[in-house]
Amino acid sequence: MHTLMEVEYEQPTSESVCAPRHAWARVPVEPGPAERLALKDRIRRLLKERNAVMVSHYYVHPDLQDLAEETGGLVSDSLEMARFGRDHAAQTLVVSGVRFMGETAKILSPEKRILMPDLDATCSLDLGCPSAEFNAFCDAHPDRTVVVYANTSAEVKARADWLVTSGCALDVVRALKDQGHKILWAPDKHLGSYIQRETGADMVFWNGACIVHDEFKAFELQALKAEHPEAKVLVHPESPADVVALADAVGSTSAILNAARTMDATTFIVATDNGMLHKLRTQNPHKLFIEAPTAGNSATCKSCAHCPWMAMNGLAGLAQVLELGTNEIHIDPALGLRARVPIDRMLAFTAALKNGQPTTGLVPHIGAA
Ligand code: 13P
Ligand code: SF4
Repeated sequence: MHTLMEVEYEQPTSESVCAPRHAWARVPVEPGPAERLALKDRIRRLLKERNAVMVSHYYVHPDLQDLAEETGGLVSDSLEMARFGRDHAAQTLVVSGVRFMGETAKILSPEKRILMPDLDATCSLDLGCPSAEFNAFCDAHPDRTVVVYANTSAEVKARADWLVTSGCALDVVRALKDQGHKILWAPDKHLGSYIQRETGADMVFWNGACIVHDEFKAFELQALKAEHPEAKVLVHPESPADVVALADAVGSTSAILNAARTMDATTFIVATDNGMLHKLRTQNPHKLFIEAPTAGNSATCKSCAHCPWMAMNGLAGLAQVLELGTNEIHIDPALGLRARVPIDRMLAFTAALKNGQPTTGLVPHIGAA
């Protein structure tokens, strides 16, 4: 049983012009309490029988986050999902998230079987950046280093020099700028402009947006802050600049969790997908988390702070793919090899940063061959 949602998103037709497009999301109906318990038991059993491991994003249903952790899998941001999937010994990974996350896992581990509860779970950034138009954009800027966000197709990744997630974009672009690179950035315009403001890098942007974060509203957020003057504001950088300007902490889903754990406050206003509230509240049971506003006098909400495609991941779909081995991600091997180059660069760069090693050797000077 599913509910079909229509989703409107913007697709850039050139560097500055966008046209509205329509997509859909098939959101499973919540199982009743008995069915929920039975599905969880079946999934635990099937994970063992199939030697499979779960990798879930923070935005998916709390049941899929908790089951992943309880069974030795991972719930995390998109950067750590990629690293964990690559390094884990299991030959079958069940990725609960959106399609680019499953594709990244497959590109990094072509020998593994990558299953997803629903292969149609997409992303407005991926949909809004078709590879033919993106290639033309790159062709028009041959002097620029192409940096793309993880939320893209394998074809777009294959055109990139570097891949980034919101967890490492600032560090990568700063390092590229220091080595003399001018950047072509795609697809998220808000994340790109945040990175440009922070680093001062010379950047041109693809004009895409996340339908969830694009809807947070600065005017209403200011009013909410006035009602809770003690609250700290946590913002994902896919949000508009005027929302980011009101933040006490800006960062990826993992950075938001870290800020909530470590900041000296007990009330937080959170501008990211409300799937995050589960982890925020379980890790910080004595703190109060309030959703940032997406609608108000100036708008009606389309996504209402929850990604319709993340919502396509459910217990029944997960049990079914484990049972039948369906919904497997396939990537053309030659495409996968090319798309892997920028992902490997990102993983090597972030591993060096994490281990306190120098990154200069990993980012060539623009004059170098
Ligand atoms: P993170 O990389 O912060 O997990 O975000 C992925 C995403 O899709 C955010 O909307
Ligand atoms: Fe894409 Fe936004 Fe959904 Fe993340 S939340 S998957 S960026 S549409």
